[in-house]
Amino acid sequence: MKNFNQKIIVITGAGSGMGRYMAIRLAAEGATVLLSDINEEGLNETKSMIEEGKGLCKTYKVDVGDKEQVYAFAASVIAEFKYIDVLINNAGMSIGEATLNEIPLADFEKLINVNMWGVIHHTKAFLDVMLTRPEAAIVNTSSVFGLMGIPSQIPYCVSKFAVRGFTDSLRLELKGTNVAVTCVHPGGIDTNIVSNGIHYKDKEATVAQFKRVVITSADKAAAIIISAIQKKSKRVMVGPDAKLIRFMTQLSPNTVDRVILKRKADFDRKKALNKTT
Ligand SMILES: NC(=O)c1ccc[n+]([C@@H]2O[C@H](COP(=O)([O-])OP(=O)(O)OC[C@H]3O[C@@H](n4cnc5c(N)ncnc54)[C@H](O)[C@@H]3O)[C@@H](O)[C@H]2O)c1
Repeated sequence: MKNFNQKIIVITGAGSGMGRYMAIRLAAEGATVLLSDINEEGLNETKSMIEEGKGLCKTYKVDVGDKEQVYAFAASVIAEFKYIDVLINNAGMSIGEATLNEIPLADFEKLINVNMWGVIHHTKAFLDVMLTRPEAAIVNTSSVFGLMGIPSQIPYCVSKFAVRGFTDSLRLELKGTNVAVTCVHPGGIDTNIVSNGIHYKDKEATVAQFKRVVITSADKAAAIIISAIQKKSKRVMVGPDAKLIRFMTQLSPNTVDRVILKRKADFDRKKALNKTT
């Protein structure tokens, strides 16, 4: 898809981070962006930023983890706009460090509803109208944690591996149709993903340590994802850390395991230092 002018684009989780900056960039290119988020305040801020640039947008308060809300949202979009050209499943949540034994099952289920089922339900709800368009794109947000497993983050890894599996399978199912499918794997991006998450302990120190390791801005990440939509890329690594992780997971999974355990020990040590400073 070379041109977003006059395209109708749904972006979930557009009240913050990468979703916000994709919305601003796509609206500036002439798209009508239909933005959803559970956070109304964040959505309104994004809307004001778009309208300052004279872009066209509409906002919807939707919990992507709630099946009924997702299908009602899609029905109201289709009733008003008849179709959409691009669906960007971006909304997601994180969870603080907790082992499998520590994690409350309700939080595990909530995270899977938001990060995995949100993507699946939006795709099912919009696919038929997207198949009627001359060209269309579905963009699903996985993570580098959809490429490798890490300790104390099982629910997040499960959800992002699931998004990758769903997206890769869907891409093959839709081969030969007008709908391109892209799987997005961000590395560390400077957004509110960690501060917005559920935390069990050391929230401030965890957020501070995350802020120290992120290397790509949300706006730069948005530009990379948009370029991948234009190129109909199957998969996009967002940031140099993501590219390195992908290379390492393909080259030497055993080295990746060793590096993960060492990085986790470093992260914990520096987080402990943050707590005491
Ligand atoms: N920031 C990173 O380092 C990073 C790395 C890999 C993957 N990701 C993924 O990128 C995507 C975008 O996240 P971000 O980094 O911009 O974070 P962010 O927290 O800044 O933005 C995520 C948005 O999703 C919304 N959201 C959360 N739960 C929701 C729900 N139930 N219903 C509707 N909206 C909901 C939040 O309110 C927020 O506005 C997420 O899927 C995240 O998992 C982020």
